[in-house]
This record gives sequence, C-alpha cells and structure tokens, in this order.
Amino acid sequence: MFLTRLVYTSSVTDNFSPNDIENILEIARKNNQANNVTGMLCFNRKFFLQCLEGSRSKVNETYHSILNDNRHQRIIMLDYKEISARNFSEWSMGYMPESSLTSPVNIKFSGTPEFNPYEMSGESAHLMMLALKETIPSI
Ligand SMILES: Cc1cc2nc3c(=O)[nH]c(=O)nc-3n(C[C@H](O)[C@H](O)[C@H](O)COP(=O)(O)O)c2cc1C
Repeated sequence: MFLTRLVYTSSVTDNFSPNDIENILEIARKNNQANNVTGMLCFNRKFFLQCLEGSRSKVNETYHSILNDNRHQRIIMLDYKEISARNFSEWSMGYMPESSLTSPVNIKFSGTPEFNPYEMSGESAHLMMLALKETIPSI
C-alpha cells in the first residue's frame, strides 16, 4: 500500500454554519481512524486547508467524499504525492483554528499576512502545516 499525501483548499458555502466545524471534525476523526488516514485541517471561517495522508486508496476515497460535501466549494488540489513517511501520524485530524493562523506564519509561507491558501503553492501550504504542528505541545 503506497503512502500518499493530498493537500487541498476550499471555501465555505452558504450551507456552512459555524457549528458545522465540530461536526466535520467528529466525522472526520471517526472515519479517518477507521481508515488509517491522518492529517491536519486549518480553517479561518472562510477558507479550509487540509492535508490527508494514508494509503493511496483511502486518501482518494476520503477526498471523493469531501468533494461531494456541499458545505464547501472551489475545491482545489494543491499537492498530491507518494510519500515515504507520514508527518501527522498522531492525528486522525489535527485542527488549527483561525487564532493559530497568525500573520507571522502567513507571511512566512505566502505573499500576504492573511490566510489565503489559494495564493499558496502546494509546497508552501504543506510546509506551513508542518510549522503549525510544531506550535502544538506533543500529545
Ligand atoms: C472541510 C471538510 C473536511 C472534511 N474532512 C474529512 C475527513 O478528513 N475525513 C472524512 O471522512 N470526512 C471529512 N469530511 C466530511 C465528508 O465531506 C463527508 O461528510 C463524510 O466523509 C461523510 O461521512 P459518512 O458517510 O460517515 O457520513 C470533511 C468535510 C469538509 C467540509
């Protein structure tokens, strides 16, 4: 089973209500644990940035369900590659809220201090998530 990483960004739709983030994380963690998928989700109430890692088939299966979710739109794949090891193996889905997406982090990995993954390369988006992971005490 090849290990694969997929990174995408998307935007909330009118179908999204603020409480949905709890629901998304609960379902994501339950399904991902069952599928041995791990990763991180960043969200600033406007844009999502998510990294999924796991077997190629499970990452694709998960991405296909995510694509059909009407709570977000403009879903753009930023990065997709085979990897030799996971970066988020401890997290069925780690979460970075808006308060973690600070100007210094954004300016380091993009052209502006605002969080806007549409303006980021796949590599920058991935590196930013790795940097954010380091801000969390180990679990
Ligand atoms: C931004 C976003 C991220 C999501 N991430 C995941 C995920 O990592 N894993 C997952 O199974 N579902 C995720 N979902 C939910 C799926 O779109 C879908 O609702 C879910 O897989 C359906 O699961 P169910 O068939 O068990 O109800 C996400 C949804 C959104 C909007």
